[in-house]
Amino acid sequence: MDQFKNAGQNHIVAAYEALPESEQQVLLDQLKAIDNPEKLVQTVQEAIQFSKAAGEKLFAQLPHELTSSTIEQTREHLDRWFDIGLETIAKNEVAVLLLAGGQGTRLGCSDPKGCYDIGLPLGKTLFQIQAEKILKVQQLAKEKFPESNPKVQWYIMTSGATREATEQHFEKKDHFGLAADQITFFNQGTLPCFSLDGSKILMGSKSSICESPDGNGGLYKAIAKANLLDDFRKKNIKHIHMYCVDNCLVKVADPLFLGFAIERDFDLATKAVRKRDAAELVGLIVLEEQTQRPCVIEYSEISKELTEKPDPSDPAKLYLRAANIVNHYYSVSLLEKMLDTWTSSQEHLPFHIAKKKIPSIDLESGEFVKPEQPNGIKLEQFIFDVFHSVALDKFGCLEVERAEEFSPLKNNTSAANDNAITCKKHFLELGTKWVRENGGIVPEGALVEVLGLTSYHGEHLDQVKGRQFKDGDQI
Ligand code: UD1
Repeated sequence: MDQFKNAGQNHIVAAYEALPESEQQVLLDQLKAIDNPEKLVQTVQEAIQFSKAAGEKLFAQLPHELTSSTIEQTREHLDRWFDIGLETIAKNEVAVLLLAGGQGTRLGCSDPKGCYDIGLPLGKTLFQIQAEKILKVQQLAKEKFPESNPKVQWYIMTSGATREATEQHFEKKDHFGLAADQITFFNQGTLPCFSLDGSKILMGSKSSICESPDGNGGLYKAIAKANLLDDFRKKNIKHIHMYCVDNCLVKVADPLFLGFAIERDFDLATKAVRKRDAAELVGLIVLEEQTQRPCVIEYSEISKELTEKPDPSDPAKLYLRAANIVNHYYSVSLLEKMLDTWTSSQEHLPFHIAKKKIPSIDLESGEFVKPEQPNGIKLEQFIFDVFHSVALDKFGCLEVERAEEFSPLKNNTSAANDNAITCKKHFLELGTKWVRENGGIVPEGALVEVLGLTSYHGEHLDQVKGRQFKDGDQI
C-alpha cells in the first residue's frame, strides 16, 4: 500500500483500510497487476500531454513510391501478388490475427461484435463470414498447390468482456468447420481508469478499482504474454495478416495483400480505402513531416482544417484521404525485433486518453455515481502507433476498393452509416456484382448472396453464366 500512498492514491489506501479483512485481499489482488503506481500516474500525465501535442504535428501524404492501388494496377500484376500470397499460405507460413477485444459501445450490443448477425438470409455472424474466408482461401491454395495441406492459424485477441462469449460462440458453431487446433484465443490486458486530471485511480466499488481494456494496441503486450512468438516459430509462421472484427467485407488472409508486402519486402504494410467524405470517422494513414515516419492520425486527434483540406493537385479530392481500415501485414521478424527492443529498453507505445462517463465512487462525497458528464479518462494504446518505429522504405500502403473490402459494423441502425443494414447491403451488392461479372442475369434492384464457401473474391462462378437470378437467391 505504501507504493499507492507515494503515488498520491490515498483514497485507495483509505478504502483498503476501511475494508473487512476478508475483502482486503480482493482489492489487493486487483492492485497487484499495477507494478509501479508512481510510474503509471506519470504515464497518464504524459498521455494528457501527448494528446495535446498531436494537434501541433504536421502531416503530409505518404510518398508515392510506398503506395500502390489495386484500382490502378494491371490484372497481371494483381494476379502475380495473389499467387505469391497463395504460395505462402500453401506452405503454412501465414497466420491471421483478429482484434476482437472491443466492447462495441457505439453498436449498443452486449455480445461481442463478432457474434453479431448482420441479417444475411442464413443468419451468419461476422465470425462465421470470416471463418468461411479462411476455409475458402485454404481451398484456393490447395487447388493451386495440390501437394500442400494448407492450414491458416487464426489467433483471436479477446478481452475480459468478450472472451467467454466468443469461445462459446465458436464451440456452439463447431468452429465453423475449421479445426479446433487452428484457433487460439488470447486476452489483451486492462488498465485502470483515472480522474479527469489524471491524478487519481477511480474506484468502481469500495473494494475494486475501475478498469478498461488497454486498447487494440494492447495486442503487442498480449502477444508477448501469450508467448505467441514461440508458437509462430514452432509452426514456421513468417507472415501475419491482422484485421479488425467489425468489417463484413474483410478478405481474411488476403493472398494479394500478402503478395504485395512480400514482393516489395515490406516489414509492415497496411490497406487503405479512399475516405468517403471529410466527416467520416476514420483514422488517416499519413507521413509525419518532422520525423519522416509513417503514422496514423486518429479522427479524434486531427484538426478540422486538415480534415477538410483539399488536395492542391486535385482539389476535388481531400488532401489526406487514405482511410485506415485496420488491416495490416506484419513480417514475424519485425514483431520479434519490436518486442525484443521494448523488453530491453522498457519502452512502450504511447497512451491515448478518452474522456468518458465512468460509473465510480465520487472522490469527494465517497458515494457511487453514474455520471451524466465525462468524469474520468480511459487509457488506450493504438495498434498503429508501431508504424512510427518502421523505417519508411519498409512500410507499404495498398489502396483497395471500398465496395470490395470495407463495410464496418460500428453503429446501431439509427445512424446513417456503418450499421447492420449497410453491412448487409454492401455484402449482397458485392456478391451481385460478381454474379453479373461472371455472366449471371440479375434484374435491376435485385440482390444475390454469394456464399463464402462458393467464392473468395469473385472466382469459381463460371456456373452462373447465362443463369437468371431473382432477389434473395443464393449461390
Ligand atoms: C478503428 C481505427 C481507426 C480506423 C477505424 C476503421 C484504431 C485505434 N482506430 O477505429 O483508425 O479508421 O477503426 O474501422 O485502430 N479493439 C480491441 N481491443 C480494444 C479496443 C478495440 O481488440 O481495447 C478492436 C475492436 O474489437 C475492433 C478494432 O479493435 O476489432 C477497432 O476498434 P474500434 O474501437 O471499433 O475502433 P474505431 O474507433 O472504429
